[in-house]
Amino acid sequence: MSKTIIVSNRLPISLRHRNGKFEFKPSAGGLATGLGSIYKEGENIWIGWPGNTVDDPEQRAEIIIELHELKMAPVFLSKQDVEEFYEGFSNETLWPAFHYFTQYMVYNPDHWAAYVRVNKMFCEAILKKAGSEDTIWVHDYQLLLLPQMLREALPNATIAFFQHIPFPSYEIIRMIPWRKELLEGITGADLIGFHTYDDMRHFLSAVGRITGLSNESGYIQAENRIINVDSFPMGIDYDKFAKQAKSRKTQNIVKNFRKQVGDQKLLLTIDRLDYSKGIPQRIQVFAQLLEQHPELHGKVSMIMIVVPSRDKVQSYKELKEEIDTLVGRINSDYSTLNWVPIHYFYRGFPFDELSAFYSMADIALVTPLRDGMNLVCKEFVASKTDQTGVLILSEMAGASKELQDALLVNPNDRQGLVDTIFEALSMPVEEQKARISALQESLKTYDIFQWVKVFMDRVEHVKQKQQELNSK
Ligand code: G6P
Repeated sequence: MSKTIIVSNRLPISLRHRNGKFEFKPSAGGLATGLGSIYKEGENIWIGWPGNTVDDPEQRAEIIIELHELKMAPVFLSKQDVEEFYEGFSNETLWPAFHYFTQYMVYNPDHWAAYVRVNKMFCEAILKKAGSEDTIWVHDYQLLLLPQMLREALPNATIAFFQHIPFPSYEIIRMIPWRKELLEGITGADLIGFHTYDDMRHFLSAVGRITGLSNESGYIQAENRIINVDSFPMGIDYDKFAKQAKSRKTQNIVKNFRKQVGDQKLLLTIDRLDYSKGIPQRIQVFAQLLEQHPELHGKVSMIMIVVPSRDKVQSYKELKEEIDTLVGRINSDYSTLNWVPIHYFYRGFPFDELSAFYSMADIALVTPLRDGMNLVCKEFVASKTDQTGVLILSEMAGASKELQDALLVNPNDRQGLVDTIFEALSMPVEEQKARISALQESLKTYDIFQWVKVFMDRVEHVKQKQQELNSK
């Protein structure tokens, strides 16, 4: 019987040290939920890094056994791997390049060597489990070399790749010294997916110019096989968010939170700490709004949740300091004894509280400078069960291609953004309802489960097409 293997840098759990012992915390992320329908079935499995270093062989052996029960297999990374592969090449070269932050790109041959080495480690871990009848679905930019490594070892296996972050223009890709190897790595797959049509177009153009492989209607003609490239915009577990928002637990939290903040209007922003999210720029826009509209003082607050991330990487450390300083400055300029302009939280929240924030917010301000998709905006929409609320969304987020009924903004146009927030604050309820209902319709239909199904169906279709061509 053939099986499906999911591979991503992180497993859908995180491993934590507590009192000299290890414990696993399951990930509540959308991808983990969506792929749950796959890796938990039959002989299927998810392979990845458990998110912490474990050096002791005995502890490793114990973890392998425990993860096996959860249908997962770990790839252990050493401290050096974490520094050079994860923090280094993945997050100091590829991440900034793919998000157009070329000023943060590091070109370090040791980091590249670690990237090759760790991709090989993943390949070896997969080969222990996989046969040529199996389907292997590789996720994201940390593992770009893996499809080709797998192809060499298992020429007939079904290999799919999905990139969760943007794919930039050829002009950016050509800046990376190892661009050819990276593109050849990805083209080991039979199906290559991106969130948006633009990402797909950029990829095809870079492949054509750098590797010389031509394409027609989304099919690349490789030496002895065709490769399909397409866009598959990822959805969320819509029902989970809608249900939680309606639940008594969340509504009680909303009541309690509301008691504390009063009846002022609330702008909500939720991001992982990342320069691609435009957090300092958004704070400055809010300050500009307060400066230009003194009538809003005491009547509007921003709830800003920043979830800690990659805090050992220099650019993230600096960003954290910049955000702290800006929030401090604005709050000290404008606060009164009964009003704080920005409620700033540098931590994650449990799901019911997160749902309460979505549910009570009047406006979600989702203004990344660049984002592959962005799921926060979709979660906000799904949580607005009475259809009131306004979504302000950056044109630079992949989600903007689908969510045309949001108020779309260019995050670099500060005055435009100030004016849009002002407009949102006074939007008639009928218009809010019309917009949110329209947004909900598309998100309900194309949820995370549908995304997984469409992608897996396509993998099968591509494989059939290859067989037909081969038998001619
Ligand atoms: C983005 C990436 C994922 C990554 C996640 C969290 O969504 O597309 O691949 O896992 O950020 O980042 P981290 O570095 O903590 O894995």
